[in-house]
Amino acid sequence: MMIISFLNQKGGVGKTTLSVNVAARLAAQGQKVLLVDADKQGSASTWASLREETPFQVVSMARDNLAKDVLKLAADYEATVIDGPPHAEGIARACIIASDFVALPIEPSGLSTWASDLTVRQVGEAQAFKESIKCGFVVSRKIGNTVIGREIRSMASEAGIPLLNAEIEQRVAYAESLTMGKTIFEWSPTGAAAKEITTLTDEIIQHVQEELRDSAATQAARA
Ligand SMILES: Nc1ncnc2c1ncn2[C@@H]1O[C@H](COP(=O)(O)OP(=O)(O)OP(=O)(O)O)[C@@H](O)[C@H]1O
Ligand SMILES: [Mg+2]
Repeated sequence: MMIISFLNQKGGVGKTTLSVNVAARLAAQGQKVLLVDADKQGSASTWASLREETPFQVVSMARDNLAKDVLKLAADYEATVIDGPPHAEGIARACIIASDFVALPIEPSGLSTWASDLTVRQVGEAQAFKESIKCGFVVSRKIGNTVIGREIRSMASEAGIPLLNAEIEQRVAYAESLTMGKTIFEWSPTGAAAKEITTLTDEIIQHVQEELRDSAATQAARA
């Protein structure tokens, strides 16, 4: 069982787009997947309502004390993805606590400020008492040849959060598919966007598995 959340206090950075499509990718791998819509705006639920069937279960749960209930629900699934809310500190904190991996989508244009953002701080606070929470910045809505340079990587590491290698470009297919109630794999299965989501999902899974191995080793050492 693993729980992955997409969080950033900032609006419109791609949390819902990535949540829906990463959930779709996990489901396509044959996993039983739950998507938790933790945003009162209900974008992920609206997406689901445009369809007759979804490739994964979608539940809406947007409250400050959602962590326990998410963990309980997640026990019946192999993977749970949480679509986090913007501008909702309490809910975001609950999402972090419930997570094995917190992905923070960031737009390259907002680079001057993200390293000191509230969400980054919240992840740090949560890690102080649940060390096993892993996290990573995900470059999202990257425009064409924007260079994600060394400076940005060092800013990320100063924030104590690694920058994932997978990058998500600004692509019409993401916006169109979401609006039409489709996953990127249904919309354009062989397109560049589908490849990006696959790469991102694989990288996140790798991080989660590393953590599982680490904590198993720690437990074995203690025993
Ligand atoms: N990589 C992308 N390429 C093109 N459009 C994108 C991309 N990511 C997101 N968008 C579009 O930008 C808008 C905001 O994206 P999305 O809803 O995923 O962000 P969000 O972080 O969930 O926003 P909110 O904070 O309001 O929940 C949507 O119209 C979406 O289609
Ligand atoms: Mg959203």
